[in-house]
Amino acid sequence: MLSFNNVTTLNEFIIGRQSEFPYAKGELSRLLSHIGIAAKIVHREVNKAGLVDILGEAGQVNIQGESQKKLDVFADEHFIGALKASGECCGIASEENQDIITFEEELANDGKYIVTMDPLDGSSNIDVNVSIGTIFAIYRRLSPVGHKAKIDDFLQKGTKQVAAGYVIYGSSTMMVYTTGRGVNGFTLDPSIGEFCLSHRDITTPHSGTIYSVNEGNYFKFPEGVKKYIKYCQENDTETKRPYTSRYIGSLVADFHRNLLKGGIFLYPSTASYTDGKLRLLYECNPIAFLAEQSGGKATDGKGNRILDIKPESLHQRVPFYVGSRQMVNQAEEFIKKYDSNLD
Ligand code: AHG
Ligand code: MN
Ligand code: MN
Repeated sequence: MLSFNNVTTLNEFIIGRQSEFPYAKGELSRLLSHIGIAAKIVHREVNKAGLVDILGEAGQVNIQGESQKKLDVFADEHFIGALKASGECCGIASEENQDIITFEEELANDGKYIVTMDPLDGSSNIDVNVSIGTIFAIYRRLSPVGHKAKIDDFLQKGTKQVAAGYVIYGSSTMMVYTTGRGVNGFTLDPSIGEFCLSHRDITTPHSGTIYSVNEGNYFKFPEGVKKYIKYCQENDTETKRPYTSRYIGSLVADFHRNLLKGGIFLYPSTASYTDGKLRLLYECNPIAFLAEQSGGKATDGKGNRILDIKPESLHQRVPFYVGSRQMVNQAEEFIKKYDSNLD
């Protein structure tokens, strides 16, 4: 693989890995490179957010009924623009848009791939200088090339993902992605404007000591989840409990920390959100793919692998348990024991 002064850039890495897919003609590489470009543009905007009049509500309400921030709109537009410009993407499903996005241009309709994305994840953290992210998943289209993408292209199981990843706009900006051959992380060096390979072949610890959950919802959680949280808080030196509680409120940032350090993130069903809050297509599936590729696990808490769930709608929600394999198994044991009546 090409490298200069021991630095491997994202583009060099993507091109170097292309030979692992003997039938690939560079389309996926081009798509991933364009995502990298959009990430740099959003990074630039995130970093000047405190300096210019970009903070605050954009005055619109997205289809989830949540108020949209200006950066959500900015990120959405730039990722859509980059994907379209790549010529490899014929359709997009985004958190910020009710319906799938298709294109009139022949170039785009000749694209073999569709993308699902959460352009700005953790948007409640924008105004307070806390880490936010972008999540994406890439699938091969099912509909014939040369035509507009169809809804069925997007309702594929997570196991069909060709690639998935996230960008975290944190104390540094990173892109972490997988094409099903392990997980690699790239840190943006702003001085040269390049993502540089910094975390090669990430493996997540089998177990950990961090649990991440919005405990404000405690009384709305199923009994098994309440019992598991109490288990995390109990004193037991052998199992290194009590665990440490860490919750940022940006899935990308919470997952990224636990991926590297070992831990569990959970967003269970609650009395108000019976399917949890997080969205299957552009939050849970890509994160689950990364989790599994790093040696971790992702389920709905009821023994179902996230990647095996057949989506029925674009903005479908699902309870989400993800992280170190042993911790996810343990949480599921509690749910099985105390919530056997959950369907
Ligand atoms: P988004 O900003 O894309 O709407 O996502 C927010 C999500 C996710 O990032 C985070 O894990 C979760 O919402 C936090 O929800 P609570 O505030 O209910 O804990
Ligand atoms: Mn999100
Ligand atoms: Mn979002």
